[in-house]
Amino acid sequence: MSTAWFTKALLPWYREHYRPLPWRETRDPYRIWLSEVILQQTRVDQGLAYWERFVARYPTIMDLAAAPEGEILRLWQGLGYYSRARNLLSAAKQVVQDHGGHFPADHAALCSLKGVGDYTASAIASICFDLPEPVVDGNVYRVLARIFGNGTPIDSTAGRKEFRALAAQLLDPKHPGDHNQAVMELGATVCTPQKPLCGQCPLANKCIARKADRIAELPYKAGKTKTRTRHFNYLHIAVEDGIYLHKREGRDIWQGLWELPLIESDRPLGASAMAKRIALTIGPTAVITAKHGPVKHLLSHQVIFAVFWTCVLPKKARPPKGWVRVSWKKLDRHALPRVMECHFQEHRPESRGGRKPYLRPPIH
Ligand code: ADE
Repeated sequence: MSTAWFTKALLPWYREHYRPLPWRETRDPYRIWLSEVILQQTRVDQGLAYWERFVARYPTIMDLAAAPEGEILRLWQGLGYYSRARNLLSAAKQVVQDHGGHFPADHAALCSLKGVGDYTASAIASICFDLPEPVVDGNVYRVLARIFGNGTPIDSTAGRKEFRALAAQLLDPKHPGDHNQAVMELGATVCTPQKPLCGQCPLANKCIARKADRIAELPYKAGKTKTRTRHFNYLHIAVEDGIYLHKREGRDIWQGLWELPLIESDRPLGASAMAKRIALTIGPTAVITAKHGPVKHLLSHQVIFAVFWTCVLPKKARPPKGWVRVSWKKLDRHALPRVMECHFQEHRPESRGGRKPYLRPPIH
């Protein structure tokens, strides 16, 4: 099948309409890599500010490789999926130690960097090194499924293989970087999930989904991933000028981030059940004085119901191991999950009411 029409219509459109973004004015793999990792978490309008903060704080990959993990997590705060931030540090160290500070110009070698999968490796390889590697992200699935009327489930092995092969076939080998970005840009700005702007699409006259009125049902997903529901009971225990926190460890969400001391339960707890659990953890001297929540917090595969229990500890009580007293002044130096950030926006001494809406940034 001849596919030249695809890039022939798409590239001129991209070159006229692309959003002028700072990482499009460079071919520095470090900056491109940062942008691609950030854009896997959020949309361009929110991601831009994160990218600018990272580049300002760590102008080179050497600077990033030498940074403390806590500081990187703090800069990443609000984007979610914090393993991506930890992987940034690991990959930066690999590039410095194994490749003399230069990203390798090779898809397989890029894939061996921590957190760099086929998508990111193809983006770096094509945009920075002109290598003919097709990029397939959510935007690309949507554009290709619609233009070619392809209903193979995108969340199946067969689907992933088929769409990658199609993207490879369509790729313009003379301009792989611009071509890949053009497909993603079309998906991000025109061929959007809801209400696509078909009137502005350079491929509208070829679009099978449009002709067959199947836009709403494509791309097709076979099964929704199951979500897990969790109940987090947080202990808000104020001390003189601060609060007790602990650092999350272990293989779970928010690893390395700070939060209030936590009692997780398999169902919602009432005040007396909670008092018993507190007595087991801290001792009977802690007294509950207030409760607020539950606050619902959505992650990609988990729903967290967070309840905040204000407790009072006698001055001389010994806190359990792992609890750290953090002054309000130093709170901002700690990387916090979004649910904590929102809690402290309202429940730290300086905050003056004015409830902020509890919003989770969109993740794409
Ligand atoms: N989304 C993620 N990366 C992108 C890129 N390089 N161009 C357009 N949209 C993107």
